[in-house]
Amino acid sequence: MATIILGSQWGDEGKGKLTDILCPKAQICARAAGGHNAGHSIVANGVSYSFHLLPSGLVNPNCMNLIGSGVTFHVPSFFKELAELEEKGLTDVHNRILVSDRCQVNFDLHAAVDGLEEVELGSRKIGTTGRGIGPSYSTKAGRSGVRVHEIFNEEVFERKLRQLAAGYKKRFGDLLKYDVEEEIARFKEYRPKLAHYCTDAVQYLKKAQDRDYKILIEGANALMLDIDYGTYPYVTSSNTGLGGIFTGLAINPRKLDKIIGVVKAYTTRVGEGIFKTEDLGEDGTQLQAIGREWGVSTGRKRRCGWLDLVVVKYSTNVNHYTVLNLTKLDVLDTFKTIKARILSNSVAVAYKDPQTGEEVDYFPADLDYLASLEVVYKEFEGWQKPTTAAKSFYDLPKQARAYVEFIEEFVGVPIGWIGTGPAREDMILKG
Ligand code: GTP
Repeated sequence: MATIILGSQWGDEGKGKLTDILCPKAQICARAAGGHNAGHSIVANGVSYSFHLLPSGLVNPNCMNLIGSGVTFHVPSFFKELAELEEKGLTDVHNRILVSDRCQVNFDLHAAVDGLEEVELGSRKIGTTGRGIGPSYSTKAGRSGVRVHEIFNEEVFERKLRQLAAGYKKRFGDLLKYDVEEEIARFKEYRPKLAHYCTDAVQYLKKAQDRDYKILIEGANALMLDIDYGTYPYVTSSNTGLGGIFTGLAINPRKLDKIIGVVKAYTTRVGEGIFKTEDLGEDGTQLQAIGREWGVSTGRKRRCGWLDLVVVKYSTNVNHYTVLNLTKLDVLDTFKTIKARILSNSVAVAYKDPQTGEEVDYFPADLDYLASLEVVYKEFEGWQKPTTAAKSFYDLPKQARAYVEFIEEFVGVPIGWIGTGPAREDMILKG
């Protein structure tokens, strides 16, 4: 059976921690899409681990880990991350990770192009992580990319990579700072080392599912960054929602256990693009400071604001969550900056068309129209007590319980877990 963990907002919801908690029950932990732009952080046994490309199941010594076919695979990051995890004391990591031989290779060329494309866009830049994810998916869709299995055919590999580099050179000329021959030389070193990790992931997952292995699938990024359903064009270049799980991993849809939507108790986003509940005032600054809202991968500060439940509902309509994990409830504990001068936390429950006065209760595709709408907030009394020590739902202050219950009811999906701090132990099982 497979359990899928997906980000319901713009990422950084805290998917890593839930993955870590559920991992001991799983035989395999897999990634389906994205690349080394993701940024899970896990605090386990007092040690903090950062994951970008690798599945966070590596923290669990009994879990096998798989990088699925939909992932764009950056070889230097793969080895670097494995080495870092080893340094932090994780054992046997090299024998607990497999890479699908159908993955696209993300070259340093793609990162160079990423930067140049952002410069080209000027004020309309996407705000990418600069890791070459977009260009790598572009070359995949343009059928000029290189797949992992091709690394092992030196002649094909070198021809395709030279061709790819020549194509970009034509477009960017001397602006492109990339030496294809140096990259080819680096791959001569990677090639013999990589063979150990590569596998036919379709075969691997077929056998695993036939044996009824428990598979935990760790979504990267989040639904609002999905290339089809997110705030296009301010999105990443893969399907980060439910669809991407099936294209990135050969999962049998009849063997699904849970689809878990991870919802941060407020909203954050990195990069450019629409964010209706963004708070550029004191509230946003406080959320950023208390929630430590800056990126694991990039160090970039995240934009912050109140929870947008229209977004979470939209995300649910696309991803069909069966249960939610509400995270970072504790960040709202001491909230002092208050709307309407009462102790409150707010959530967006609808948008309002200022022209017609009508409420818009869905997330529209047309972002210009969305930008013209006002946000309708509901305010909640703040609890102003620490929630981190709470061991059960009923240990939470009654105002916090009301907040949680409102979200459940509004979205129409039960909340199974509530995060009350960064550590593994700070998670209430609501049941
Ligand atoms: P992406 O894959 O990049 O979207 O990130 P993610 O969803 O995996 O987020 P990540 O697991 O990196 O979590 C972001 C940060 O939130 C990390 O520093 C976590 O330790 C922290 N975190 C997770 N849950 C909680 C929580 O309930 N409370 C607090 N205070 N911090 C939390």
